[in-house]
Amino acid sequence: MIRQPIITVLGHVDHGKTSVLDYIRGTTIAEKEAGRITQHIGATEVPLETIQQICGKLLHKFNLKFTIPGLLFIDTPGHEAFTNLRKRGGSVADLAIVVIDITQGVQPQTKEAIDILKTFKVPFVIAANKVDLIRSWRSHDKVFINNYEKQLPEIKEYFDKRLYSLIGQLSEVGFNSHLYNKVDDYRKTISIVPISAKTGEGMSELLALLTGLSQKFLEDNLRTEITGVAKGSVLEIKEVQGLGTTIDAIIYDGTLKVNDVLVLGGKHEIIKTKIKALLKPNPLTEIRAASHDKWKHLQEVSAATGVKIVAHDFDKAMAGSPLQSARTDSEEELAVNAITAELERSHIETQSTGAILKTDTLGSLEAIAEILKRKQLPILKAEIGDVNRKDVMEAIASNNRDEINTAILAFNVKIDIDAKETAEKDKIVIISKNVIYHLIDDYEELVKSKQQAKHMKTIESLNWPAKFKILPDHTFRISKPAIVGIAMLVGKLKIGGKLMDAQGHEFGELKSIELNGEKVKELKAGLEAAIAISGTNVVVGRQIQCYERNKL
Ligand code: GTP
Ligand code: MG
Repeated sequence: MIRQPIITVLGHVDHGKTSVLDYIRGTTIAEKEAGRITQHIGATEVPLETIQQICGKLLHKFNLKFTIPGLLFIDTPGHEAFTNLRKRGGSVADLAIVVIDITQGVQPQTKEAIDILKTFKVPFVIAANKVDLIRSWRSHDKVFINNYEKQLPEIKEYFDKRLYSLIGQLSEVGFNSHLYNKVDDYRKTISIVPISAKTGEGMSELLALLTGLSQKFLEDNLRTEITGVAKGSVLEIKEVQGLGTTIDAIIYDGTLKVNDVLVLGGKHEIIKTKIKALLKPNPLTEIRAASHDKWKHLQEVSAATGVKIVAHDFDKAMAGSPLQSARTDSEEELAVNAITAELERSHIETQSTGAILKTDTLGSLEAIAEILKRKQLPILKAEIGDVNRKDVMEAIASNNRDEINTAILAFNVKIDIDAKETAEKDKIVIISKNVIYHLIDDYEELVKSKQQAKHMKTIESLNWPAKFKILPDHTFRISKPAIVGIAMLVGKLKIGGKLMDAQGHEFGELKSIELNGEKVKELKAGLEAAIAISGTNVVVGRQIQCYERNKL
């Protein structure tokens, strides 16, 4: 059977992710959200009829015939990555929409979203949202390419400027992109669909494009053994009154039934638990928006779907963990083996020094590790959990071997008080952030500044060439050590420097400098001072000559 493609919506805060889904759902979830910020990941099933309704005449134009039963959308919070949608070797998401406010262009979290999509190898399209905000833009037609033609020439020109600036910014982050109807090869060029979640302009093109791309390129991913065991990923762990700790999960393969055994990763060990109930919101409502009466109790659910699962032991579950169901003992053994193998994070390469990475979920751990690897920044240790004293002790040991790359990177986790104190005492840097992009940026900056400091130290320790003249009548001691008065001509004289005469013969080492009665370590051009020259055979009048007439 072909299942619905799983499509995630990502992008910078307030660029309109939830509004895009709202338009499709015909709801106003964004308006009801506290502070209008999406706090949790939610899943929305959009049936075929809704897509057909929105696409309308375009279906004939694109000659689009449906083989998929609908689309499953996942909204992601503005301040968090969608990394919990992980599965081995990639993501549960088949496709993604990166929403960019066309009036603002690529922003930090847009870059983060694109970076993560790259890490998890998820193909994506760009929805250039809020075209209605373009100066004097008129909404004559819901189809963007038709509506564009109806704009005034100067407005078209202004739009083109914005579009090309976006294309430029996307090329800076490593992607070729173009307006969707100008793309020849969808595997090489990212499609941009200008839309407005407010007026609905471009939404039919966006849905037609997502459907077309899914059917053309993803059919192999979408084939599911519908009666088989369920495979999925834990999105969130949530306490629900009357139900206890539940998990919200995305199922991408097979069927999950009440009384199946569910195997998933826990914070400390694998969890095996019997499913007590499966709850699903009605179509076109989101898991998180559904109130009590909107939940449907189901005996079974099939891929692809978002589902709330009720069972024991979920308080120890780990967000981002893979899950698999079992109905027989042998299936249970298979599931335990599969989940164990997937949780062994052997694919995060570690080195003998570098960053100690602590994160809240497996997904964020993998995503950050992958980005660090791409930037050739070494990782000493990568683990889920709060920063503790043991981490700091390991950082201290690493710091002794490699001062430059050592730091603790904490993503969405707490720092134990004694860990903080020890780190402060031993000058171990802890970078704590809840935006991946900021964490990586700060770490890169730290490494760079440490490298620079080391470079400066090396430069300072170098002996610069210097030229000086020994003043006549200023011999204070003839030898052992010879002490003479000098006048610095050029360069910088430093203690420990080797000395040679005008013919290039070495004759000892600079032992000390006394300037105006005080010992100094170096002497700049233009100054006069007394210096002591060490070396057993250094005798003023023999190796060292005092010349008149400014000769050395
Ligand atoms: P977070 O979940 O907080 O990251 O934000 P979001 O990306 O989901 O953005 P949301 O949909 O909450 O929209 C943010 C604001 O932009 C809201 O005030 C929306 O009404 C507004 N907005 C979204 N899309 C459009 C659009 O196409 N045109 C206009 N004019 N406003 C829009
Ligand atoms: Mg939102």
